[in-house]
Amino acid sequence: MMTITFLSSTIRKSLVQKLRTAVVASLAVGLVVGAPVYAQENPMNTSTQKAALPRVLLLATGGTIAGSADSRGSGAYNAGAIGAQQLISSVAGLGELASLSAEQVASIGSQDMTDDVWFKLAHRIQEAFDKHEADSVVITHGTDTMEETAYFLSLVLKTDKPVVLVGSMRPATALGADGPANIYQAVQVAVDRQSIGRGVLVVMNDQIDSARGVTKTHSTSVQTMQSPNLGSQGYVDLGHVRFLQPVQPSQLLTLPKAAPLPRVEIIYSHSNMDASQIEHAIADKAKGIILAGMGDGNTSKAALAALEKAASQGIVVVRSTRVSKGYVNRDVEVDDSKSGFVASMDLNPQKARVLTQLLIANGITDPVKVQEAFLNGH
Ligand code: DGL
Repeated sequence: MMTITFLSSTIRKSLVQKLRTAVVASLAVGLVVGAPVYAQENPMNTSTQKAALPRVLLLATGGTIAGSADSRGSGAYNAGAIGAQQLISSVAGLGELASLSAEQVASIGSQDMTDDVWFKLAHRIQEAFDKHEADSVVITHGTDTMEETAYFLSLVLKTDKPVVLVGSMRPATALGADGPANIYQAVQVAVDRQSIGRGVLVVMNDQIDSARGVTKTHSTSVQTMQSPNLGSQGYVDLGHVRFLQPVQPSQLLTLPKAAPLPRVEIIYSHSNMDASQIEHAIADKAKGIILAGMGDGNTSKAALAALEKAASQGIVVVRSTRVSKGYVNRDVEVDDSKSGFVASMDLNPQKARVLTQLLIANGITDPVKVQEAFLNGH
């Protein structure tokens, strides 16, 4: 009996010791795990170690994220009022993530975005990467045309380095301003190795979206940027960058020598639609016409006849849709093959316009070749 008792006390002591070790270890882990994730992921705080931080070039263009309240009150604000450096210094903790430099490319509401600003952005980003000045780029931008800028850059930048566009739905001076957190998350995604090779991304309100998929879906909500057809790429939650989609191959076109891009008009379809808007586009020497059609890219017989006339004159005609979700497919209610039209697939009218402009600028106007480009982009 003694033996058993002895053994049991020895075992007990050993078990208590093991348990104590386990408890201390789990507490230690708990302290580290419980620590703010950012500190855990970026324990760099010496100048030498800071020198090893990824180099992020922030290019500011304006938008609400750089907006400040206007004396008109009641939520009024002026987009683009705050400069790049001020934007960076307004976000605590950025210096732990990256070695940031900032440049002001424009100071506009993105409803005033131009081809000139697009070309400035494309040239500066390509130069920064070609000359090894930066490991990734973050662009602060208004949300109104963010999807178009992102998609344009995704088609012309020759790089696998991360380029992330970020904006906000509330100005910097608003209660519950979403800009600072969005900028922090955009830099997190930009410096994360998982972002390499994923093309141009949009980060807003914890969500990561692709340039091809993203669109503005709400006039005021902070969760406005969504990817109705292709789905979001991933999320930034409590400091972790999580990609849920495989890396997609990029579709590349050559950046034209200079702005402006070819004139491509978007024509919105509606009941009782006649041919007048299409006739005006032809008279204005449009090189391309994008139909924002009803449903699966439909429109009236009168408008279709005018679009066939445009196509017969060598104008690139693409059928997209005014509805928010779903693909526009070839030869369903419209005989694209007979009419010489292109179906936009997943691209909404504003995205279809960007791709059509760049295809025309690259000399690709044959409807068959244009359709291939719309098909193989994803
Ligand atoms: N002025 C609009 C723009 O710059 C506001 C939208 C925004 O930035 O969120 O796109």
